[in-house]
Amino acid sequence: MAVTLETRRLALVGYGAVGRAFTALLERVADELARRYRLAVPVTAVATRRAGLLVDVEGIDRVRLAAIGGHGSPEAVSPAPAARSGTPPVAAPGLSAFLADPAAPYDVLVEITTQSPRDGEPAASYIRAALGSGRDVVTANKGPLAWHEAELRALAAVSGARLRYEAALMDCLPTHAIRESIVPVGRILSFAGIVNATTNAMLSAMAQRRSAAEALAEAQAAGLAEADPRHDTEGHDAALKATILANLLLEPQVPLTPAAVARRGLDAVSDEWPAEAAQRGARVRLLARGEVCGEGAERTVRAWVGPEELPLDDTLALVGGRSMALRIHSEYGGRLQLTLLDAPVEETAYAILMDLVALARDRPR
Ligand SMILES: NC(=O)c1ccc[n+]([C@@H]2O[C@H](COP(=O)([O-])OP(=O)(O)OC[C@H]3O[C@@H](n4cnc5c(N)ncnc54)[C@H](OP(=O)(O)O)[C@@H]3O)[C@@H](O)[C@H]2O)c1
Repeated sequence: MAVTLETRRLALVGYGAVGRAFTALLERVADELARRYRLAVPVTAVATRRAGLLVDVEGIDRVRLAAIGGHGSPEAVSPAPAARSGTPPVAAPGLSAFLADPAAPYDVLVEITTQSPRDGEPAASYIRAALGSGRDVVTANKGPLAWHEAELRALAAVSGARLRYEAALMDCLPTHAIRESIVPVGRILSFAGIVNATTNAMLSAMAQRRSAAEALAEAQAAGLAEADPRHDTEGHDAALKATILANLLLEPQVPLTPAAVARRGLDAVSDEWPAEAAQRGARVRLLARGEVCGEGAERTVRAWVGPEELPLDDTLALVGGRSMALRIHSEYGGRLQLTLLDAPVEETAYAILMDLVALARDRPR
């Protein structure tokens, strides 16, 4: 007997390292999604800054995705491949209008554009357009969340759409599960995390007297570094994550924005410090921290990012290379640490898939 699949059409906005890894993964798991969740997730729209928007209601196949992906340039898709059926490609500035259009052929926005640490735009506008039109959104982009999450959630509550962003924090390390299932009751008092794989790899290389530039080049080649690597090295990426984690885990009365998060990056680390620390039996790590201070009306939440020298018996000191980890201290559950070992960009793609499956599974029917 033929099984009826639920089809959730995807609009991918941004199609770089994460997008390519994600569509490759979708192809590999399509049969399992159909079998296990009765779910089909065709890509019906793709947009990038340089390539514009391509729409095909019947699904965009891998050949046309390959023409866009990676080093998208006007030349790469010009003349843009004709849509088999559906609208012809349009320029990226019309993207918000497309995403807001109730007739646009997509059900879920997967927002994976370049990080914009200063205001989260234009990604936040894309997400607003999709949520406002009742579409669910999955994003790997920290900027719009760190600056606008409360507003975006309020918009989603009105339209009935849902917003998920596991990939934005620590790839497929299940950060949302902390509140949903690991610590469902009681307060989380503090967190400390190694939340940026690129800088952790650089500090680990420096501890072995290897060059930080070489480690950065390796992270870039692996698709891990931000498009502008200063967003990693100056601690912007970690500060955005500290903001989102503080709002998610520590529940401040007024949400934090990155402007309230003190930030120091690798510019505060001398060339010698990591190797000298290693000789002392310690490790230098770039940590994102957050904590609750005071009680009742005096209760405040603060978060900050900076390099610290940790003794080797600190569990975060043991997390080297491209690994990431998050340690939390909760009111009743004590201290626990989640570690993601040596995360490749495929695990960011997997985190997006985790969110898509969660949306399909928890869909109001
Ligand atoms: N790479 C990772 O390991 C990782 C891990 C977790 C989270 N993330 C986050 O995931 C997102 C994507 O990362 P990535 O590594 O895939 O970046 P990337 O390789 O630099 O790709 C970014 C994509 O976004 C497109 N884009 C940029 N601005 C746009 C705009 N205004 N409108 C439409 N498209 C736009 C780019 O188009 P053009 O190529 O035409 O400029 C490109 O296709 C970022 O926010 C990043 O912080 C990445």
